Amino acid sequence: MERSRPTADRNVLIAPSVMCADLLDLGSDIDELVDLSVDWLHLDIMDAHYVPNLTLGTDLCRLLGARYALPLDMHLMVDDPDQWGPLFASIAGSAAGGGYVTIHPETTWHPARTLAAISDSGGKPGIAVDPAADIDRFRNLLPLCDLVLVMSVNPGYAGQKLLPWTLDTVRDAARLRTELGLDYRIEIDGNVSWQNIPKMVEAGADVLVAGTSSLFDPALARDEAATRMRSLLRR
Ligand code: DX5
Ligand code: ZN
Repeated sequence: MERSRPTADRNVLIAPSVMCADLLDLGSDIDELVDLSVDWLHLDIMDAHYVPNLTLGTDLCRLLGARYALPLDMHLMVDDPDQWGPLFASIAGSAAGGGYVTIHPETTWHPARTLAAISDSGGKPGIAVDPAADIDRFRNLLPLCDLVLVMSVNPGYAGQKLLPWTLDTVRDAARLRTELGLDYRIEIDGNVSWQNIPKMVEAGADVLVAGTSSLFDPALARDEAATRMRSLLRR
């Protein structure tokens, strides 16, 4: 396995949160983001049970995977990842740019089995760490993951405020990556704002979910927001 690299050597990736895009004009909004060289498409899949909201689903993921060569970053906030994980993984497997399927491990009795099923079905497996959870509890799952998604707000809605202790979870994810010699990416999701980006990257995040706090900042045009984001990442 490739040795773990510190964040400073990694390109920090930008993953626009599709639920925050212009849903009435989604194709042209995403076309513009792709032209602005974003890296992944972050897709929040909510089932109104694990979180009190309903968002995006299988058909949209299939269509995006057929149209864009960017990896689909599918974040499953659902009660039954054993049902949905392999299905979304098969969508990742047939998407032009492949994709990640991230589960909240506390939603299944046997998350190691669920992650293996995601991998077998064609997706890159990930785990999401809820703000209330201690990542050390998931240590045994980390070698099975290509992605660790740290929730920096409670899952369910855009437009919330950063829960500051979650930056320690990012630091813990980076420490464990080095300690265990792994190479997963560390994504941060929730209130990735102009003010919070520098400290999130400093803590070790190398994929930023860009929502209403940055790329979809209502005060800015998309190209202005992308330029501002890139200037913070110096790329
Ligand atoms: C939840 C979503 C939102 C999204 C919104 O999983 O993925 O957190 O990032 O971004 P903000 O918090 O900037 O509105
Ligand atoms: Zn998300």
